This record gives sequence, structure tokens and C-alpha cells, in this order.
Amino acid sequence: MSRKVTAPGLRQMMEAGEKIVCITAYDYTSALLCDSAGVDVVLVGDSLGNVVQGHSTTVPVTLEEMVYHTRCVRRGLSSPLLVGDLPFGSYNVSVSQAVESAIALMKAGADAVKLEGDYTEEIRAIVKAGIPVMGHVGFTPQSINEFGGHKVQGRGDAGEGVLDEAISIQEAGVFGIVLEMIPADVAAVITKKIEIPTIGIGAGAACDGQIQVWHDVFGLSARKLKHARWFAQGQDVFGAALSEYISSTRSGEFPTSENSF
Ligand code: KIV
Repeated sequence: MSRKVTAPGLRQMMEAGEKIVCITAYDYTSALLCDSAGVDVVLVGDSLGNVVQGHSTTVPVTLEEMVYHTRCVRRGLSSPLLVGDLPFGSYNVSVSQAVESAIALMKAGADAVKLEGDYTEEIRAIVKAGIPVMGHVGFTPQSINEFGGHKVQGRGDAGEGVLDEAISIQEAGVFGIVLEMIPADVAAVITKKIEIPTIGIGAGAACDGQIQVWHDVFGLSARKLKHARWFAQGQDVFGAALSEYISSTRSGEFPTSENSF
């Protein structure tokens, strides 16, 4: 059995120069696959709002839904660090709301939580409660309405702003930071300047690790995203298998005596 990955353990991986491999998962079966393949971090991301629930943004996702999916993933996962994503509206109102929401995800089985943006007071309070927090800066999907769409952040002078935000949440106590959709050179500077692991998604190769959304790397999403690669042609593979199931059933070729009792 592989070692249990912990939040402090990620810092050791960074210091040893080992790249940290992170991916999202939303259910038990995917969690089992992550566990046996040797992924380091599994994020139950609120991206489930897009790829599981069919919303156009992550804004509608609720804490109750995140609790449900965290429980499902927990049952299939032992070695990787399980990070539960705090959804929009579950930490933005007050410090006590943030701590209560983080506790709900921990009780559902998370080993750590993630939140987006410069919520330093909330981060401090959650860490004080004994809960490791992962930060998230750059393009933060819960603020898509403020950004006006999926837009690369931190270009030009704005790069300083992303760096400042990363430093400020590091000081508040996060154990690692997701850098999403920022120029690779800005991510490289942030990675050099801060002391904790950076986990990139559309932030270039200099980050200490990478994270991807499950559907975006297995060819299951509607379109190929620039920051992802299809390591499998999921739509084609499952589409062909589904067609074969339909034709085999319609023709009467399936089930055979082998599938019968
Ligand atoms: O919800 C999510 O999947 C995320 C990743 C894109 C980092 O926040």
C-alpha cells in the first residue's frame, strides 16, 4: 500500500523536487482509480457544477452537494490527500460561516479544504481550527461574473497583484496554492518567491505540481481546453461501447447464455 499523502508531506515533495500530481474526482469509482494509480491529491472540486451537474458556472453549487460528493470520494480513497472545495457562498459571509463550512467538509471525510481568493481572516480561522487550507488565485471560477468570462488573469502589471495575493494567503497559513490560468512566467515567479507548493492549471510547467479536471483529461468534456490534454478519447471510447451495447441488445445477440443464470 502507498504512503498516506498529507498536507505537510506536499511541502516535502516540493523540497525534494518531486512534482505533485493532482486531479479532481467526484465519485467512489473514480476515487478507487486515483488511489490505485498513485495520484497525490484528489480534489472534490466545485467544478462538479459544470461537469456533473451541467451548470455553466460553479456558482450554483451548494455546501450540501459538496458534502455528498466528498463522502462518495472518501469511500474510495486511502492514500491520496483528499481536498474538499468550499463552494461559493459557504465562506464569503463571515469568518464563523467559513469555519463551520470547513468543518462540514472535514466531517464528510476531507483531509483539507480549498477556497478561492484573498480570504485571509477566514483562512487563519480555519487553520486555527486544525484544518489544512489550500488557496486558489489567478482565475478563480467562483468570480466568473466579476471577470466577465474565462479570462487569463495576471497579464502585464496585474501579475504583481496575483503575486501579492499569493504572499498574503501564504502568510495567512495555506499549505499550497492553486494558480489557475495565469501566464507561465508569472507562475514561475510566484513559485520561486513563495515557500509553499504551487499547483498549476493553465499556469505553465514551473509550478510544483499540476491539477486537472477529470473530464478535461479523459476526453469527456464538450471541448478540448488549451490548458488540458486528452490522455484518453473518452467520448469516442464510451460512445462506441454504448452503440455496441445498443446494437447487440436490439439484435438479440446480448445477453448470451454466458450472461444468463
Ligand atoms: O473545482 C475545481 O475543479 C478546481 C480546480 C480547477 C482547481 O478548483
